[in-house]
Amino acid sequence: MKKLIIATSNKNKKHEIKNILKGMNIKVVLPEDIGEELPMVLENGSTFRQNAIKKSVTISGFFSALVLADDSGLEVNHLDGKPGVRSARFARAKATDEENNTKLLTLMKNVPAQKRGASFVCSMALSDNGFLIKAVEGRCAGKLEFEKKGDNGFGYDPLFRPVGSTKTFAEMTPASKNKISHRAKALQKMKEVLEAYMKEGKE
Ligand code: IMP
Repeated sequence: MKKLIIATSNKNKKHEIKNILKGMNIKVVLPEDIGEELPMVLENGSTFRQNAIKKSVTISGFFSALVLADDSGLEVNHLDGKPGVRSARFARAKATDEENNTKLLTLMKNVPAQKRGASFVCSMALSDNGFLIKAVEGRCAGKLEFEKKGDNGFGYDPLFRPVGSTKTFAEMTPASKNKISHRAKALQKMKEVLEAYMKEGKE
């Protein structure tokens, strides 16, 4: 059975990715499952797509294997797409979620409800033996709240209310978030790419 290495160290993501790809004829593993550590890849691209591709190509070359990598973050319309690829280090290098959320709330302080549109974006890239197979993107549109709401999730979840919901991501159960999230949408697309790739290999 073909092995797929998930190039992430984020526990939430690992669980979600394993779950969605469950049932496929593929063995989904994390680097630690095979006694390996992820090599460091500098995420210095100007788009999520560039970063996801760089990670998947580099790591799949390193392991000589099939590798799925992702990069994600929040784009705020009023801030011309910021924090974007700098979502994790918006307030400063190695910022906490608390610091990033406070910075975002401060910048959006006097911005009215109708101008608080934002989207979570996730790019995912699949590579085999150092060669890119495909990159896909998932998006989830919503609005920014004026204060943090909810304790679940991570990152900007307490400030983000997806379109059509009365709850922020942090007020939802993980299962509800995972049905509509940017990451889930990218993963669904990637599942089709993977299925086609596995089929091709057999022909
Ligand atoms: P990563 O590099 O893809 O792990 O994500 C970069 C940053 O984007 C995270 O540190 C979070 O601040 C933010 N982010 C990405 N996805 C989410 C999400 O699902 N909820 C909240 N914040 C997120």
